[in-house]
Amino acid sequence: MRIAVIGLGYVGTTTAACLAAQGHEVAGVDVNPRKVEMVARGESPIIEDGIAERLSAAATAGRLTATTSAAGAIAVSDVSLICVGTPSRPNGSLDLDHLLQAAREVGEALAACGHYHVVAVRSTMLPGTLETEVVPVLEQASGKPAGEDFGVAVNPEFLREGDAVRDFTDPPFTLIGEGDPRAGETVAAVYEGIGAPLVRTGVRVAEAVKYASNIFHALKISFANEMGVLLQSLGVDPHAVLDVFKMDTRLNISDAYLRPGFAFGGSCLPKDLRAALHAARRNDVDLPVLGAILPGNDAHLQRGVGMVVATGKKKVGVLGFSFKAGTDDLRESPLVALVEALLGKGFDLKIYDRHVSLARLVGANKEYIEHAVPHIASLMSDDLDEVLDHAEVVVIGNADPDFAAVPARLGAGVVVIDLVRIGGAEALGDRYRGIAW
Ligand SMILES: NC(=O)c1ccc[n+]([C@@H]2O[C@H](COP(=O)([O-])OP(=O)(O)OC[C@H]3O[C@@H](n4cnc5c(N)ncnc54)[C@H](O)[C@@H]3O)[C@@H](O)[C@H]2O)c1
Repeated sequence: MRIAVIGLGYVGTTTAACLAAQGHEVAGVDVNPRKVEMVARGESPIIEDGIAERLSAAATAGRLTATTSAAGAIAVSDVSLICVGTPSRPNGSLDLDHLLQAAREVGEALAACGHYHVVAVRSTMLPGTLETEVVPVLEQASGKPAGEDFGVAVNPEFLREGDAVRDFTDPPFTLIGEGDPRAGETVAAVYEGIGAPLVRTGVRVAEAVKYASNIFHALKISFANEMGVLLQSLGVDPHAVLDVFKMDTRLNISDAYLRPGFAFGGSCLPKDLRAALHAARRNDVDLPVLGAILPGNDAHLQRGVGMVVATGKKKVGVLGFSFKAGTDDLRESPLVALVEALLGKGFDLKIYDRHVSLARLVGANKEYIEHAVPHIASLMSDDLDEVLDHAEVVVIGNADPDFAAVPARLGAGVVVIDLVRIGGAEALGDRYRGIAW
């Protein structure tokens, strides 16, 4: 394909070098004439393993050119990949000046472009930026509507500096957020030579995946570092611990616990976190990230309370009372905390959980239920229908499979607050509400 790469920094230079090495015809564009001269000569303006040889081979083979004129590059290409910087402003907001200036130049070039062209942004930008900021500039500067004469897409980059060529040629996936299917197909064709799963999705989803990824990386590094200093203070080798920790690919390094839903609870996570934080305090070890987890969890719990309050209704049916389906363990269940908060605000509650109901008759939890939460035990019903008949608001608190059929059985006007994304109630429209999703 014929590809214009706008911005020859780390991402643009790597993109240009790797795409040219795959046989595409690449025209690099930068406002910095020094970078343009270097790339045109087949020299690398960045220090990055594997880039210099790719640039030099591509320039020699005539598959790589460079220019300061976006118009010149776009006139001879099918796709432009915008790779300009989107740095932080002093207040933390994203500085879009370079991006919008590049979009303006690309738009002006599109005005004179006689063939279909796709503008794909590789720069990192917050969800919504393409639609609300970039597209209006492109349309205004070109005098053409997006989706007809030209297509738009986002194509976030996940390379790591230092491993950029490897990450480019062997990525976990190729991600395209497409403004329309034709634009998506065109960008997908750029990556035909890359043997990675292709994900074509909505523009905002693709923009957001980049943020989810980088924020998670930052969180993981902070987790590892804070665990490191905590373990060091306890006289344990942090690397020995984390090496074993990482062997668990079922719960630790896995997709477990990565579904937005309700607050965590149960008999282990809150208790063990508190014990570790107490040990850290005793050893004068400051752990701001780990220390923020319980307050964050509590804020999320209050969000659930706020959602019930916001319905303006008073009669609440809570389905699922233990912290997860299939157990009767109520210790530190976030649903118990939710129910207590609602009781305190004068809500009229009925609760159904078949496992907890059973435990009221037998089981080790009988005593806990009778002594620790007697005020709640009296609100429990063994009869799901009785709870549904009572409820103006149904809170689905855990993922008991029986609850999936509940939304279809509800009377008119009943609101469903689904804390676990059990699903199946989309027909209720805005009466079906999820937390954190
Ligand atoms: N560096 C990384 O590893 C990495 C990885 C993934 C994503 N990203 C994202 O990719 C984007 C680019 O990052 P980078 O590190 O390559 O930035 P960079 O600052 O190294 O390069 C940006 C280049 O764009 C050029 N430029 C600015 N305005 C221009 C214009 N109007 N026309 C043409 N060129 C112009 C600059 O001269 C510069 O060479 C950012 O949004 C960044 O967040 C970076």
